[in-house]
Amino acid sequence: MQPLAFFGVAPTLLAQEGGTFWLPPARSTIAPEVDNLFFLVLGVSVFFFALIVGLMVFFVLRYRQRATAVDRHAPTHNTALEITWTVIPVLIVIVIFYQGFTTYLDERTPPRNAYDIRVTGRQWKWNFQYPNGFVADELHVPVDETVRLTMASDDVIHSLFIPAFRVKMDVVPGRYTTTWFRAVAPGEYELLCAEFCGTGHSDMVTKVVVHKTGEFEPWLKQAGDFIKSLPPAQAGRKVYELRGCKQCHSVDGSVVTGPSFKGLYGETARFTDGTSAVVDDNFIREKILDPQAKIREGFPGVMPRIKGITSQEITVLIEFIKSLKK
Ligand code: CUA
Repeated sequence: MQPLAFFGVAPTLLAQEGGTFWLPPARSTIAPEVDNLFFLVLGVSVFFFALIVGLMVFFVLRYRQRATAVDRHAPTHNTALEITWTVIPVLIVIVIFYQGFTTYLDERTPPRNAYDIRVTGRQWKWNFQYPNGFVADELHVPVDETVRLTMASDDVIHSLFIPAFRVKMDVVPGRYTTTWFRAVAPGEYELLCAEFCGTGHSDMVTKVVVHKTGEFEPWLKQAGDFIKSLPPAQAGRKVYELRGCKQCHSVDGSVVTGPSFKGLYGETARFTDGTSAVVDDNFIREKILDPQAKIREGFPGVMPRIKGITSQEITVLIEFIKSLKK
């Protein structure tokens, strides 16, 4: 083990590999810039902390009151010393500003020809939509390619945070925000919400999967085709997970926010307007397309409209609900 490995300083400054006591592994092109800035500020702080506290202790001991003390006048103004301790810190903050500002500009300016992925943050789930329309709950990206995220929120402010890429950006309702990165190593990394957004905030954790060269496109094609390639009820389970139904509807009979899907198909539901209906294919379809038309008795009526859900997705979802018998 290198002498400073415990503090993470030496390995991170030298290699940017593996993650350290201070920082997770650096796996994007921008990460070394951010890390260097962090270690610059940390180094300057540690140096001056040691200098100031060291001198303070030394002076306290050296000039403590002694029995033999003689009164002396305090030293007067020293121009050379004052200029020195003004100019040196000014130069240091100029260097920090330069490093910080150039890193900021790099972070805020995506290179041209980026691969676009749309991100939606919602209480309490991430959705990632690819250029072919496929929506996933994990972020899949190719290695060594610039990816630009265009992000929006359906409700409150969230913040997309990928520690290994040193990327963090607010996701705000009513406007788009963007961020970008270029992953440098295939693998799986954490992606989380870094803005407290309600009781399920800590559930907004998912992963970034960085595919090896040439493996991203086949993955996307296959993933996008799951409705065709899986049996309907299994495809329906994927829709249930990907589209966020899972956040409010259990499949084991427990009540989360909405009714459990277990044994739901074929039940008679009573609504707040006094009417009732049997839960069948058409009922489920209408409920998904217009969630506020009928509110089931005893439930809060907070189901959102699922933007962009296709009739194929609804069909397999119904098959999935049908398969969950009591
Ligand atoms: Cu979304 Cu915290």
